[in-house]
Amino acid sequence: MSSVAILGCIWGDEAKAKIVDVMGSDADIVVRFQGGSNAGHTIICDGKKYVLHMIPSGIVTPNLQCVIAPGVVLNPIEVIDEIKSLKNAGVSFDDRMFIDPRVSLVLPIHKILDCKAEDDCAQKKIGTTKRGIGPAYSDAVARKGLKLYHLYDLENLGANLTKLYNYHNMAPEDLLNEIEQLKMAAKYLKPFVKQTPYFLNEQYKAGKKIIFEGAQGSLLDITYGSYPFVTSSHTISGGISIGCGVAPSRIDKIIGVYKAYFTRVGEGAFPTELFDATGEQIRTQGNEFGSTTGRPRRCGWFDAVAGRYTAMLNGLDEIAITLVDVLAKVGDLKICIAYEIEGETVTEFPAEASMLAKAKPVYEKMPGWDEDISGITNYEDLPQNAKNYIKRVEELLETPVKIVSVGPDRKQTIFL
Ligand code: GDP
Ligand code: IMO
Ligand code: MG
Repeated sequence: MSSVAILGCIWGDEAKAKIVDVMGSDADIVVRFQGGSNAGHTIICDGKKYVLHMIPSGIVTPNLQCVIAPGVVLNPIEVIDEIKSLKNAGVSFDDRMFIDPRVSLVLPIHKILDCKAEDDCAQKKIGTTKRGIGPAYSDAVARKGLKLYHLYDLENLGANLTKLYNYHNMAPEDLLNEIEQLKMAAKYLKPFVKQTPYFLNEQYKAGKKIIFEGAQGSLLDITYGSYPFVTSSHTISGGISIGCGVAPSRIDKIIGVYKAYFTRVGEGAFPTELFDATGEQIRTQGNEFGSTTGRPRRCGWFDAVAGRYTAMLNGLDEIAITLVDVLAKVGDLKICIAYEIEGETVTEFPAEASMLAKAKPVYEKMPGWDEDISGITNYEDLPQNAKNYIKRVEELLETPVKIVSVGPDRKQTIFL
């Protein structure tokens, strides 16, 4: 019996999918337990690039089974496009993917509401992915939303949709067409529908290895993140059990994925953000543009205050540090070890967004390296300064680094 969680520990895009892919070689099942198509998970193997949004990253590895658990918000129309495009790329779905009937649906109305809120000057702009994620989760919590199983109640589908539009004081553009599209989606998705909590618990008991694939990152968690500039789901390890019906006692190992520097997309405070040529250099060398929206990602130094906070929240056993290769030729490196807020030195991540916005980083400087490390496969062969940097992160986060990623390909991974 073994299961492992692979969770983003900053503001998303930590290269979780790459780590899931690497760990997938000796696993049986990969599970998505929260988020939806706001996620953009990139995998590069054998020169082929895949970007996954709702489908678990395990799908690109033949024989791995994939589960979309109840905690996910699923766009039933767009997930079919994702399946079809993966099939076109040669990926087989035969008896390999299961979707729980309880998943909450992201419907056209949710995207409209998301875009409206983002474009409304009177409201605080979050910088969402405009995928309808917040409105879909809000409706689920308000008990007004539709679940996947509602699509199979054909008799009441129209009435259920109408109720949802009425709840939001909106009129559908073309209800009949929407019903038709959803009916077609329901038919297409039917072979994938399965009660996944039973499946996962049975497989765990049978000794199968399960990977829980996080989406977004801990600093985007609805409760513990930099609210309100967060996503609408529970991204931390506590969210796994809620999202997939597997008890906390059955999560055997928790791996936190950190980038060697920090990035953020969307609005919200980012104390170590760089606005200078170094920030630009990191963005270029790291190709820091969103996998889902293409937006340039904001780049900054490693923030050990935030890092220690998310290591604690998740109860990390190990760290995977990624994109380490990107820091080559950047010059001296900085790690934030405390914040100065209103004249006081603080080592706790502030609860209030307004305080985080005032945080001035206190830095520790470390010498960088100029060598290209993207071909290195043995930890000992890394430049001493790279090893010192990794060891310092390990020390500050009080968690061992066990995986170092030095490039996007599966093979560009160092195990310690
Ligand atoms: P995720 O959402 O956490 O899965 O991460 P994304 O896929 O959104 O972003 C990570 C990006 O970094 C992708 O373009 C990956 O191909 C790329 N990547 C992953 N690991 C490495 C690495 O170690 N070095 C470099 N240079 N790129 C990496
Ligand atoms: P992966 O899984 C990075 C950010 C958005 C915005 C905030 C809320 O690829 O790491 P939402 O659409 O969820 O309501 O947007 O969260 N965000 C992400 N940032 N990576 C992601 O996913 C993200 N998913 C959402 O940019 O700031
Ligand atoms: Mg991403």
